[in-house]
Amino acid sequence: MKKVITYGSFDLFHEGHYKLLQRAKALGDYLIVGVTTEQYDNQRGKLNVVDSLMDRIEHVKQTGFADEIIIEDHVGQKTEDILKYKVDIFTVGSDWIGAFDYLKEYCEVVYLERTKDISSTMKRAKKYSILKLGVIGTGRIAKRFVPEAKYVSGINVEAVYNPHIESAEAYAKQFELNMYTDKLEEFWEKVDAVYIASPHETHYEYMKQALLHKKHVLCEKPMVLKKQEAEELFELAKEQECVLMEAVKTAYCPGFQQLLSVVRSGAIGKVKDVEACFTKLENPLSRELTDVKFGGSFTELGSYVLLPIIKLLGQSYGEIEFKSMRAENGLDIYTKVHFDYGDALATAKAGLGVKSAGELLIAGTNGYIQVEAPWWKTTSFQVHYEDSSQDEKYFSKFLGDGLRYEVSDFVAAINGFEEKTWKLTREESIEMAGIMEVFLQQKECINKEW
Ligand code: CTP
Repeated sequence: MKKVITYGSFDLFHEGHYKLLQRAKALGDYLIVGVTTEQYDNQRGKLNVVDSLMDRIEHVKQTGFADEIIIEDHVGQKTEDILKYKVDIFTVGSDWIGAFDYLKEYCEVVYLERTKDISSTMKRAKKYSILKLGVIGTGRIAKRFVPEAKYVSGINVEAVYNPHIESAEAYAKQFELNMYTDKLEEFWEKVDAVYIASPHETHYEYMKQALLHKKHVLCEKPMVLKKQEAEELFELAKEQECVLMEAVKTAYCPGFQQLLSVVRSGAIGKVKDVEACFTKLENPLSRELTDVKFGGSFTELGSYVLLPIIKLLGQSYGEIEFKSMRAENGLDIYTKVHFDYGDALATAKAGLGVKSAGELLIAGTNGYIQVEAPWWKTTSFQVHYEDSSQDEKYFSKFLGDGLRYEVSDFVAAINGFEEKTWKLTREESIEMAGIMEVFLQQKECINKEW
């Protein structure tokens, strides 16, 4: 019996897929089809797969060509499968010519002519019109945005707004955007969605205006610094049928997702302590350390360190306590936040003027997980047990500056895939805004005492 194997995402199943499977089956007697998981696709840089894994499997099954369907979820699996299933022929479409020649050591490799003028990418583009996105604010993070957004299909950065027209012009020139303006009304006319990367305190008003103009919003962290503002904006987004997402990049990256999945699988037992630290020494003259109202370590870095705590332990902590070291202008150069959940503890540490090990530690009743800096761009983590021979290390990709993951989920959410927004829910964003608010209130009291 001749065994044939082939792999693919088989997203938005089309004629090209059907014909490939038909010819693959005809190469032998028994066809195995490997369908990729969403996480594996993300890892290999294929973002925006629309159909769920179950649907993609179902579509392959319905062709009647597959004798067996397996799931492909990691690099190197092809060789394992070929040996395990005693495969005679490996086949894929001609778009891959040469890419799998290394498998010739294990079996015959056949590249089948690809069906012309059809692909999942084309179907995605037809199904969903290309979103026109505008950028508000032109600072450091905004400069990383356009190159990252290019990796995501279904979206095009068209315009930039800045109240200082020279900055808008320079940004538009640098990133070859069609339009720049210092007039918001003109800006709203050109875009379907916005990415907001302006100073923290301006987020609220921009978000509100954008939503009132029925524009989808992806806003840099911290989205807002008051719980009630966050609640109001999410409510407005719902009324206006718009997507509102907070851009905490870590939340959307594959490595951090994998970390959460390992914890949720119960690998380290019940989570009892989460410690997250992020420090980044800043120039004392920087905006972060001189803007006495909204600068400081916690407003700047707090979203990152709060994220794993809120994701893993939830929002029902009993007590929260802030301790800060402050510069003369009252801004915190280092802040520690203690959470008491009753049956678990957590600590978040953020520093712009104190350097520490940027580590994430998750302690459980069976073991602990350690993620070294930069854990907020998760590429690997270690699971440790009492018996160290059981320790495991996980690796994951974090491509480029990592903003492409949040952009990809933003596009998916706009295109109607609400389930994609679970990576950072509205409740979690509201909670983080609430914590920022308590911190800032306490800071104000301290500053008054001074
Ligand atoms: N394929 C094909 N003809 C096409 C499209 C795909 O023969 N017109 C083949 C691919 O070469 C591969 C298999 O179908 O062997 C699964 O491909 P997949 O990457 O899932 O489909 P694409 O349409 O190429 O997806 P995308 O546009 O997302 O890259």
